[in-house]
Amino acid sequence: MKKSALQNARKAYVPKLPKALQGAVKIKEGAPTQSVDNQEDIKKLFPNTYGMPFIEFEPSGETNSKKMNVGVILSGGQAPGGHNVITGLFDAVKKLNPENRLYGFILGPGGLVDHNYKEITADFVDEYRNTGGFDMIGSGRTKLEKEEQFEKGLEIIRELDINAIVIIGGDDSNTNACVLAEYYKAKGYGVQVIGCPKTIDGDLKNSQIETSFGFDTATKTYSELIGNIERDCNSARKYWHFIKLMGRSASHIALECGLQCQPNICLISEEVKAKNLTLNQIVDQICEVIAYRASQGNNFGVILVPEGLIEFIPSIGKLIEELNDLLAAHGADYRDLDKEAQREYILAHLSDENKNTFATLPDGVARQLSLDRDPHGNVQVSLIETEKLLSDMCEARLKTWAEEGKFNGKFSALHHFFGYEGRCAAPSNFDADYCYALGTSAAMLIANGKTGYMAIVQNTTAPTDEWKAGGVPITMMMNMERRNGEMKPVIRKALVELDGAPFKELVAHRDEWAKETCFIYPGPIQYWGPTDVCDATTKTLALEQQK
Ligand code: FBP
Repeated sequence: MKKSALQNARKAYVPKLPKALQGAVKIKEGAPTQSVDNQEDIKKLFPNTYGMPFIEFEPSGETNSKKMNVGVILSGGQAPGGHNVITGLFDAVKKLNPENRLYGFILGPGGLVDHNYKEITADFVDEYRNTGGFDMIGSGRTKLEKEEQFEKGLEIIRELDINAIVIIGGDDSNTNACVLAEYYKAKGYGVQVIGCPKTIDGDLKNSQIETSFGFDTATKTYSELIGNIERDCNSARKYWHFIKLMGRSASHIALECGLQCQPNICLISEEVKAKNLTLNQIVDQICEVIAYRASQGNNFGVILVPEGLIEFIPSIGKLIEELNDLLAAHGADYRDLDKEAQREYILAHLSDENKNTFATLPDGVARQLSLDRDPHGNVQVSLIETEKLLSDMCEARLKTWAEEGKFNGKFSALHHFFGYEGRCAAPSNFDADYCYALGTSAAMLIANGKTGYMAIVQNTTAPTDEWKAGGVPITMMMNMERRNGEMKPVIRKALVELDGAPFKELVAHRDEWAKETCFIYPGPIQYWGPTDVCDATTKTLALEQQK
């Protein structure tokens, strides 16, 4: 593989580990845990993995030379640092016992079911240290949920004499990891399953998980790009930039980039929902800022739009819920129809209220909402051009306002979507260290016989050697939610909290940022140099963890 100069230099970076993980470890168990909600239901569904204690690792004088083979899976969307979870896991597994082997399943959970794997060796792993991407073994979105899949997976697990599987994924993938752990434990197969919190979206976090890996690097990458656009915008002073940012549901990415770059507007889907705003009201709010700035001679600005916005507009959210049930209940009778007939079919089956909403949506948006969901039942919001939809509506509104004498400026819009640009960026020092520690923690959970746990690292705003590591039972994060028309046990997604410190920080400043031009230009991620430049955490993490 031919490498860039940065890749070569970065290969030499040695991720910093917390003190507790630098040598042999022993475990300290906390009190039994319970799920965040629906305790009785979750307990019934996970009789063997419910209620386990929280675990913290402590340095130990006794070395453990556990013989174990491990399989690892990258699941779902790419997130910077995934390779370092695998290198951390590899180094720890080999350190326990050089005869231990690590196998990577290819292209996600499907690799386990299809017996598609690769042994991860020292030479191979060295090529990927501190690199972005998931190309080491690839990723996929196959949902592991059926007994046949678990049994098929077991065949290759037995063939390779694997003791444990590590699933590196988001909330849905870790929910499936827990189902798999429960199944293997109930059957007495002796195969452990451990999860790792991954997603650039930042929505896999809770009282135990401070942040999901990849969020740090992805938001810094997007903030660099947004800052560059802001500077261009402030130089030319003739465009309004509508920038959509990835993050399927939660608006953590938009909020973090908003705090880093101070744009004129940063929409937050969770606020839209809480205030029961309509699409028209959102457009009005944006146009008021555009008109005010125009009155000051500033016909330019930057607007951040979270990818999931459309689903959080209450009327559209209700429509999506009914569509989810409709699409789940109907099969070929719907799928085999042509585009126009599918639209007619939907209109014929929706309730009156949702029919009206559906009929008023632009064709492209309505079409996207009517397509098949991803394997986890999600609308593919990254394919909906919300940034274009909003700017088109703003243009029309401003035209009316101009006729009414309420707007006398110019409005020229440009559109951007930042998502795939950041998911495979070279991990920041934070993500490189955090992921390496997560991989090491996963190995220690396995060596200590644990299953149904997610590897965690805490105290992440302190210097790395003061970080704490351990494991949290996955059932602890679960509640019951409606998915594809049925109630299912799932990990609760963390949305932006409107009474949380990061959102409050935005609210405290956004009027000023709307009226004045207060842009901040964060610049590119730095890997070497002063600590406050190279090792700063996200603003979200710093604000959430401030004591
Ligand atoms: P995960 O939840 O699997 O981490 O993926 C997140 C994400 O990057 C979302 O932000 C985005 O909506 C989605 O993946 C895009 O999916 P795909 O990679 O299949 O296009």
